[in-house]
Amino acid sequence: MKQFLKDVLHDLGETPKRLNSKYFYDHTGDRIFQQIMNCEEYYPTNCELEIFQHKTAELAKVLKNGFDTFDLIEMGAGDATKSSYLLMEMLRQNFDFTYMPIDISADMIGHLEKKLPKEIDGLKVKGLNGEYFDMLTHARKISPKRKVILFLGGTIGNFETDAALEFCRELRSYLQKGDVLMIGFDLKKHPDVIRKAYNDAQGLTKAFNLNLLSRINRELGGNFVLEQFDHYPSYDPATGACRSYLISLTEQEVCIEGRVFTFKKDEYISMEISQKYSVEETELMAFKSGFKPVNHFFDSRHWFLDTVWQCE
Ligand code: AVJ
Repeated sequence: MKQFLKDVLHDLGETPKRLNSKYFYDHTGDRIFQQIMNCEEYYPTNCELEIFQHKTAELAKVLKNGFDTFDLIEMGAGDATKSSYLLMEMLRQNFDFTYMPIDISADMIGHLEKKLPKEIDGLKVKGLNGEYFDMLTHARKISPKRKVILFLGGTIGNFETDAALEFCRELRSYLQKGDVLMIGFDLKKHPDVIRKAYNDAQGLTKAFNLNLLSRINRELGGNFVLEQFDHYPSYDPATGACRSYLISLTEQEVCIEGRVFTFKKDEYISMEISQKYSVEETELMAFKSGFKPVNHFFDSRHWFLDTVWQCE
């Protein structure tokens, strides 16, 4: 049975019901997320872009970490918009490195391998198509060089805090002493700013959530009636958890591959967490997972943090 179906059947069988937000990103989901990144209320992308555009030289120097030669590996590269500023700066300074974007989408990797060397003269690109940890193992196999890892966008926020720590620990186990990680965290800030970013006026975030139900209908033969679910976004300043739910508007049954799931009126499906951190919490996470935080890069409003960790 394919993993997507297995996960959906399992997660909807739980009480309370949930779905995994990693499945938001099919073709339609990718397009909606692009629109979210371009909307007024959604700030994280612009914050991180500001860091990459305005602190490029210092970023390059810190990430080089004194290595003569290294592999720059980006986990979840997407279209590499942010990192391309860094890549250009590293070439300008004549650094000897290969850029290795990891992405689950073969299309995206093919596209990057074609596009980047054309746009950035002299760039060496080796795309890695697959799961993060499998591809880190593969990267080690094909090259013995020091590794500099980028994990941007605040994707770490899509894990519950204990799972995020576990993820960092596992990531550390694929690296060696002296290797470097730069990881992006969305920071705690005025709750209104966060709530608006995940409840935009155009309804893009709502569509992003509902698209997972459509995807289940399309790919797994489900029969969700989208009109019978409402989007409920929430942010709790006490915990930093920004969570989204879909609420069943009536009592209803949904069928997926022969399995029937019953919903009570007002029952929720837990869809996504986007955890917000304090700087101190990110530092604690570094120490607890075998890293040492060595540099902090903030945007001008201090809304987002790209922090550099060294493997201890
Ligand atoms: C892609 C995980 C960084 O959590 O802010 C955007 C996804 N969800 N709006 C985030 C998302 C709703 C986004 N990340």
